[in-house]
Amino acid sequence: MTTAPTERATAGSFRIRPFAVSDTEEVVALWRAAGLVKPWNDPYLDIERKLTVQPELFLVAEAAASGPGSAGSGAGSTVVGSVMAGYDGHRGWVNYLAVADPERGTGLGRALMAEVERLLLERGCPKLNLQVRSANTAVIAFYERLGYRLDDAVSLGKRLIPDGPDASSASGGAADASAAPGSAAARG
Ligand SMILES: CC(C)(COP(=O)(O)OP(=O)(O)OC[C@H]1O[C@@H](n2cnc3c(N)ncnc32)[C@H](O)[C@@H]1OP(=O)(O)O)[C@@H](O)C(=O)NCCC(=O)NCCS
Repeated sequence: MTTAPTERATAGSFRIRPFAVSDTEEVVALWRAAGLVKPWNDPYLDIERKLTVQPELFLVAEAAASGPGSAGSGAGSTVVGSVMAGYDGHRGWVNYLAVADPERGTGLGRALMAEVERLLLERGCPKLNLQVRSANTAVIAFYERLGYRLDDAVSLGKRLIPDGPDASSASGGAADASAAPGSAAARG
């Protein structure tokens, strides 16, 4: 049986809770600042879609100062982290892991991943996969600290719905993101 994600305190400075629609602008700003928004993705569409599939696995971290009991991003709250996860019945996936620059190195990225792992495990998920651009050695080092290892696999993708500013010019065919250099990097 699964339980809804609860407010979980991290090292004491933050709390992790499910995304609320009122967090949208702060979350998109966080992703942009963290370099996670790519031309072939529309972050607003990504959020909209996620809210239709396992929205409870889309988490944000906010500064604990925003006060207990607030359901979403309210007055005084600041979103300082995010992670978007899913379970397809075989593997768990993680996208859009981000921590605001000033908060990095405080354990928040680890805490967000720990919460996602807990929720996926609760659903019986046996393995978690994620994609990182191969040149992004810093993020690979971060994941290795958390116990992740390189799989002997390459990442392939096929875009089914063109998004982003190129969408309108993608006449009739899918704009295959995997054709773009470095696009194997997801938003992990
Ligand atoms: C990746 C990211 C989420 C890490 O968040 P963070 O809060 O700084 O990470 P933490 O403080 O929780 O670090 C957890 C562990 O990883 C280690 N670590 C973090 N960044 C590291 C780096 N660049 N190189 C090596 N180790 C690193 C920490 O030392 C810590 O180790 P410890 O707990 O064993 O002492 C953050 O840097 C970020 O938002 N980056 C930009 C967005 C991004 O690239 N996301 C991933 C897309 S695939």
